[in-house]
Amino acid sequence: NGSAGTEQAPSITAGTAPGFPPFEMKEGGELVGFDIDLFEAVVSETEYRFDGWSEFEFDSLIPALTNNNIDAIAAGMTINEKRDQTIDFTDPYYSSDQAIVVREDGDFSPGSLSDLADRPVGAQKGTTGEGVVQDELVGDEISENQYNAYDNYVLAIQDLQNGNVDAVVIDVPVAETFAKNRPVEIAFVYETGEKFGFGVRTDDDELTSALNSGLSAVRESGRYEELTQKWFGE
Ligand code: ARG
Repeated sequence: NGSAGTEQAPSITAGTAPGFPPFEMKEGGELVGFDIDLFEAVVSETEYRFDGWSEFEFDSLIPALTNNNIDAIAAGMTINEKRDQTIDFTDPYYSSDQAIVVREDGDFSPGSLSDLADRPVGAQKGTTGEGVVQDELVGDEISENQYNAYDNYVLAIQDLQNGNVDAVVIDVPVAETFAKNRPVEIAFVYETGEKFGFGVRTDDDELTSALNSGLSAVRESGRYEELTQKWFGE
C-alpha cells in the first residue's frame, strides 16, 4: 500500500458468497459467475495482481473485509447507507429490485406485499431481501416466527419448493435465474432501486480508485457488455 508504481504490484484477494446465480455459484466444484468474471477483468485493468477467492456466507463478508481476511467483496452487494458506515464501495456495476418468488403451481399468486399476510416467507440472512421482510412485513402482515432466515438463497428456494415457505424475497436477476431451472416464478417485483458495488476497506482509497478506473476500462473495452451477454443473455 502506498507504493503504487514504485515496487512490485500489490496483490489482493476477494471474498464472495456463492449460491447467488448468475452472480456467483458453484459449478462442478468451481466458483463461477458474473461477479467472478467481472471482478477479475476489472483487477486485470489495474496494477494490482489477483490472488484468488475466498468463500463466505453473505453476512460474514463485511467482517472478513474489515478483519483483513480479504481485500475486496464481489457478491452482488447492494450499496446502502448502513453498509457505507463500515466499508466503502466502488462505483455501481449492476442494478436490481427485489422479486417475490413463489411456487409455479399457481396455488398462491400474490400481487402485493399485503397478500403475504400470515404466510411463511424466506430470505438470505443479512441481505436487503431480508431487510424488505423485516421492514415491510414482520410485525404487520406476518409474525416474527413466520420469517425464515437462510444461510443462502439456494436453501431458501429449496424450502419454497418443499412448501416450507410460501414466498422468497430475492434480487430480481437471481430470481429470474432460479425461475429458469426450478419450478418457481416471480409473482411480483417490489421496487427498491438497488445498485451493486464492490466492497473495499474505508482506509483503502487507492484500491477503490484503481477498481473504479478498472471498471471504466472494462466498460469502454466492451468486456462489460460481453460479460452481461454471457451471464444474463438468452
Ligand atoms: N443484493 C443483496 C444485498 O446486497 C443480496 C446479495 C446476496 N449476495 C450473495 N452473494 N449471496 O443484500
